[in-house]
Amino acid sequence: MPKPKIRVSPNLEELSRAAAELFVETARSRIAATGSFFAALSGGATPRRLYELLATSAYSDRIAWPNVHLFQVDERCVPPDHPDNNFRMIREALLVPSRMAPENFHRMDGEQADASEAARQYALELDRVIPNREGNCPRFDLVVLGMGNDGHTASLFPGSPALEERDGWVCPSSPGAGGLPRITLTYTVLNAAAQLVFLVSGSEKAATLANVLEGPPQSHLLPAQGICPVNGHLVWYVDEAAASQLQGISRSSG
Ligand code: 6PG
Repeated sequence: MPKPKIRVSPNLEELSRAAAELFVETARSRIAATGSFFAALSGGATPRRLYELLATSAYSDRIAWPNVHLFQVDERCVPPDHPDNNFRMIREALLVPSRMAPENFHRMDGEQADASEAARQYALELDRVIPNREGNCPRFDLVVLGMGNDGHTASLFPGSPALEERDGWVCPSSPGAGGLPRITLTYTVLNAAAQLVFLVSGSEKAATLANVLEGPPQSHLLPAQGICPVNGHLVWYVDEAAASQLQGISRSSG
């Protein structure tokens, strides 16, 4: 497995600013080359500051929003106004303040009672909107990922059947232990992307990050290890606290 590329920032604010630059530069490059930019955004707490920054004029004024199509990496099976809904967070942090056209955000239907049907519908939307392919799979230009303390990413949880899904692009998932049922992009779609970036912040993630990046391959227990782009680039944007237990990996700071 190729050595992962890691960028260490002093704190979450600087990590988010670095990620915002990556987002802007990737968007500008793809729009210049193809006229469009397709990205998938994770939920959770870590990426919120990135999304807030992208909506500020320092970044937003550099993005041709009409040429940008945003999708979700995963969603909790709750209505869009529920506090745990990822779309709600992304809408508050980015969509409303950036005044992005609503039709350019492709929301997962978390409130759909039948999660399998919601997953099927979302796969059709991926197929309809995204022209680029890796094999027969839609190819995102950029995917923003987080990592849970248990090593999950997207809604790909340790031991989950979703980890084994190879034919489908979107599937139901569950964290187990009474957690909310979810819908998630599968490894197939995630690993077809041109560029993936993990955002990991905080000392509570340090042990897991060291296991994921420096421990033995065990993606069934640490699903973040299963992110290996087929024909793309993977970079980890971490802060000093999260990186505090990393040993041998060369780190580019800044
Ligand atoms: C979600 C996310 C999930 C998240 C990790 C990290 O729906 O919760 O997609 O994969 O990225 O759980 O979450 P934090 O950023 O809140 O630590």
